[in-house]
Amino acid sequence: MTETAEQTRVIGPVIFLGAPGAGKGTQAKRMVERYGIPQISTGDLLREHVSMGTALGKRAKEVMERGELVPDKLVCDMVEMRLNRKDCERGYILDGFPRTVDQAKWLDGVLAKRDFFGQVIPPVVVDFTVSYNQLFKRLTGRRSCPNDGKIYNVYFQPPKVADVCDDCGAALVTRKDDTEEAITVRLKSYEEQTKPLAEYYRRQGRLRSIDGEQASEAVTAQTITAIEAAR
Ligand code: AP5
Repeated sequence: MTETAEQTRVIGPVIFLGAPGAGKGTQAKRMVERYGIPQISTGDLLREHVSMGTALGKRAKEVMERGELVPDKLVCDMVEMRLNRKDCERGYILDGFPRTVDQAKWLDGVLAKRDFFGQVIPPVVVDFTVSYNQLFKRLTGRRSCPNDGKIYNVYFQPPKVADVCDDCGAALVTRKDDTEEAITVRLKSYEEQTKPLAEYYRRQGRLRSIDGEQASEAVTAQTITAIEAAR
């Protein structure tokens, strides 16, 4: 397949902020297609550790199922290892990281020392804003494909055949932390620990806020505009 101009240019670090269910994963997958850079989802990486039964996975499993945050040190070490991979050399989308002010400060230190073909590039931070009731509905309605990670929603983005992936035919699954109980805890930890990050990045002049309650195609168009205005 021929690469497009977008798939060879340097994008640098892109951070997707936003509450659980704000659409970070949905939009990150579209940016991966457009720019050919990886989506680094700390939630997905942690779920891989859980399913492989690693030491980190064993520590993270119950914390995640309750909807709480995994300790900063464990997550930062995991991100650092991932950023060292070659596919990050033109840039990457951080989906769900940082999530606390301490993680953001740690990341600032890492980014100040990393270059992209000789150039240190500050992050573009895109914050998707969505109201509480809409987030709740999105999370209870989410289904995903265990094979290709494609995300659906029984209310907003249903598959053509109920509970079956359009692309590969696999049976769709519901995430273990998409129970009403865990969603309540996740939204509370977002309010208390992650929402302050918007202000943190606003003060740095890096924040681009997007109304994440629009149709997902409109959110995609505005995300591209936000990234390309900064690059
Ligand atoms: P993680 O996997 O990151 O989950 P999250 O932040 O809770 O975010 P989600 O994946 O639930 O939502 P999303 O914003 O990606 O929305 P999506 O695109 O799927 O984290 C899970 C857990 O891991 C955490 O609780 C924590 O324990 C741990 N963890 C992860 N990172 C950590 C960190 N940095 N530090 C500490 N612990 C960490 O969309 C949601 C639904 O809405 C879908 O069904 C989709 O189809 C639908 N939808 C999307 N956009 C639209 C739209 N525009 N209109 C209508 N529907 C839409």
